[in-house]
Amino acid sequence: MTRLNENYLKLPGSYLFSEIAKRVAAFKEAHPGEQVISLGIGDVSRPLVPAVVAALHQASDEMGVAETFRGYGPEQGYLFLREAILKHDYLAWGINLSADEIFVSDGAKSDVANFQELFAQSSCVALQDPVYPVYLDTNVMAGRTGEFANGRFGGIIYLPCTEENGFIPQLPRERADVVYLCSPNNPTGAAMTRAELKKWVDWAAANGSIILYDSAYEAFITGADVPHSIYEIPGADKVAVEFRSFSKTAGFTGMRCAYTVVPKALCVYDELGAKHSLNALWLRRQTTKFNGVPYVIQRAAEAVFSPQGQAQIREVISGYQQNARVILGALREAGLTAFGGVNAPYIWLKTPKGLDSWAFFTTLLSKARVVGTPGVGFGACGEGYFRLTAFNTPQLTQEAAQRIAGLKF
Ligand code: MLT
Repeated sequence: MTRLNENYLKLPGSYLFSEIAKRVAAFKEAHPGEQVISLGIGDVSRPLVPAVVAALHQASDEMGVAETFRGYGPEQGYLFLREAILKHDYLAWGINLSADEIFVSDGAKSDVANFQELFAQSSCVALQDPVYPVYLDTNVMAGRTGEFANGRFGGIIYLPCTEENGFIPQLPRERADVVYLCSPNNPTGAAMTRAELKKWVDWAAANGSIILYDSAYEAFITGADVPHSIYEIPGADKVAVEFRSFSKTAGFTGMRCAYTVVPKALCVYDELGAKHSLNALWLRRQTTKFNGVPYVIQRAAEAVFSPQGQAQIREVISGYQQNARVILGALREAGLTAFGGVNAPYIWLKTPKGLDSWAFFTTLLSKARVVGTPGVGFGACGEGYFRLTAFNTPQLTQEAAQRIAGLKF
């Protein structure tokens, strides 16, 4: 008999967004011909920008010619893309890193899921509540938690993000080996200021902890006091890994390209106290388990950094930011309290009349034909909250906003 990894049995039956998709499909089957608008999963609606499409065409043509055809590429990513990332996203911001500290991958989701492999199974993990489920579920799979009871897994340090603390995680009293931070935040839309993030960097330095910093929504930052990278904070290169993605920045959710920064100054320790470079270990991991992102996709990602690419993606992002304002306006008109949507494409609303998150999901779907994400799906502190995304088209966002504004709560 083949035994399974029983840690998988601790997980909820299905991944949050699969569960939502199932319920929406059932609703559509029962209400044929009705237009359901999704403000649920954070998937983009605008097509790739022309600069990216041109690069895709050109790279595809190269792949059809013997002289320019490419087989396996470097697992860490082609240097042309890593240098473009370095120049645009770090050196231009006064952050000194080098190209070999950048690892191109097929998604921030997979990197953030895989990175925990490098830490001992006994590592103590802290994460925000509510939280992007991938951080938690992958640690459950790895056996770092106890059982699930009363909405929480044993062995995890939860950092409640509530209305009282502005949905910003506060330092825990206990020490943690690894802490996941996501800013601008999925799901709450809250973003840490420089001063708030500095507290975490200092805490990690004082405790010998490592921060896994998910910055997938960096392109949506509008506040001058919100850092775009954790490496803007002095000393962060000794305590933090940063995850970024082209998905929400440049419409790459179906293309798959992201990158992870693992500074060479970042170290982990073995049982005898000997120091090891996390950068070298991640490279070892990637070269063993990953064959790199397709050449054509990396050329497309490189085009995001061209002057035309930058102008074009900025226009798309502005459109999503406008959607967020439209949604916020509609929620307020409907008498609801809402947060986020300013530095992030996510709006986090308080469900009315004490409705629980799933009850509000059903109400919104049946009364407005609008799909959102129940806050409790992101953790116990998400109960009584609900997430909407700004990623649909302006037309459908307007339509959804009108339907929501017309609801009486
Ligand atoms: C979300 O809706 O939370 C995101 O789309 C999930 C993701 O990026 O994996």
